[in-house]
Amino acid sequence: MRMVELIEKKKNGYPLTREEIRFIVQGYVQGKIPDYQVSAWAMAVYFKGMTVQETSELTMAMAESGDQLELSLPGKVFVDKHSSGGVGDKTTLVVAPLVAACGVPVAKMSGRGLGHTGGTIDKLSAIPGFRVELGEQEFLQQVGRIGLAVIAQTGRMVPADKKLYALRDVTATIDSIPMIASSIMSKKIAAGAQGVVLDVKYGSGAFMATLEEAETLAEIMIGIGKNLGRDMVAVLSSMDQPLGRAVGNGIEVLEAIECLQGNGPDDLMEVCLELASWMLVLGKKAATITEAGEILKDTLQSGRAWEKFLAFVQAQGGDTAVLHAKNLPLASEKIVYKAERAGYIQHIDARKIGLLAMVLGAGRENKDSEIDFGAGVYLLKKAGDAVQAGEPLCMLHTSSAEKSSLGLAKAAEAITIGEEKPLLKPTVSTVIR
Ligand code: URA
Repeated sequence: MRMVELIEKKKNGYPLTREEIRFIVQGYVQGKIPDYQVSAWAMAVYFKGMTVQETSELTMAMAESGDQLELSLPGKVFVDKHSSGGVGDKTTLVVAPLVAACGVPVAKMSGRGLGHTGGTIDKLSAIPGFRVELGEQEFLQQVGRIGLAVIAQTGRMVPADKKLYALRDVTATIDSIPMIASSIMSKKIAAGAQGVVLDVKYGSGAFMATLEEAETLAEIMIGIGKNLGRDMVAVLSSMDQPLGRAVGNGIEVLEAIECLQGNGPDDLMEVCLELASWMLVLGKKAATITEAGEILKDTLQSGRAWEKFLAFVQAQGGDTAVLHAKNLPLASEKIVYKAERAGYIQHIDARKIGLLAMVLGAGRENKDSEIDFGAGVYLLKKAGDAVQAGEPLCMLHTSSAEKSSLGLAKAAEAITIGEEKPLLKPTVSTVIR
């Protein structure tokens, strides 16, 4: 088989066979097929798509590209979650300790930032000392001991996604349904949880622009999971404006702490509680969503979720003193963007805010870029809020003073003010089971 012929075949819109897909995935992982050919193939997939059968084959080839875990603890059902990607999406930092504190173990493999969206692994890396790469034994032992571990893909687990994810990030091939579905589901299958709650986002800051596209993505992932005997739920939510107020890495960890201490912003808490409720139902801790909601409320109020977060950070080598003191270092330059006129905030374009955070240093320009964990954007106002002319709308954090005028121009492009109070979409719109 020759890679160039497979690129040609996909470019001409023909489906690839199981053997052809395995040839590409294995060849790439083993370093026999170079980045430039896989980039060309990924672009062909972007334009020509994949059948459901091809997407399942790609998922399995990726899941089987490395080790796969068998998760089992007596009397426990493991439940995983995964987001399709958004701006200000720190839900894992809140939901994972919250659910673990309720007695449902969470053994999760997460990603780094992708395109204009942030990634859980980058956020956790903002905590001094936090180790995102654990060996499999250590990962499993930690889950057995405290009920929670979150790691990055390693060279041993789902190496195909590790390589493809980084490549897609810098070749404009992220927002493709088969690529996203296989990237997410390969990690979920390899990590071995019996239940999976998918957090599928749509809108300007998501990879799926519309609710219909998000439903298609959700249904494909649910189908792949169910075929393998996994219990699956997808929660679809709007990502037109950033989730919560913080966008960056360290700054998002600080907001997650607020949530775990009971002071999180409403939209973020709504999504976190919906995801966590379904995780308790799949984890057989609650029979209904209403019952799950009661358990979660009690767990947050009692401080057990916050304690679980501290135990988790400590177990992975992170400095909990900075969390207690809420003094994760933020970048030295603080620039305030102010309202140019009075009115109501009509829209805060999540994608533009994600790109602004990247410009400030919070994301990667290429595969080897270093992230500035202290960079980011904090929204002082959200869509629907009334503002006066000159009132601060957001705070930009960056280490590089020369980025301030570009940052202010980008903030102006992202935030629209108008006369009328806008009608806002509900945050969580649909649940698919
Ligand atoms: N999250 C992933 O893990 N992969 C994607 O492709 C998008 C979001």
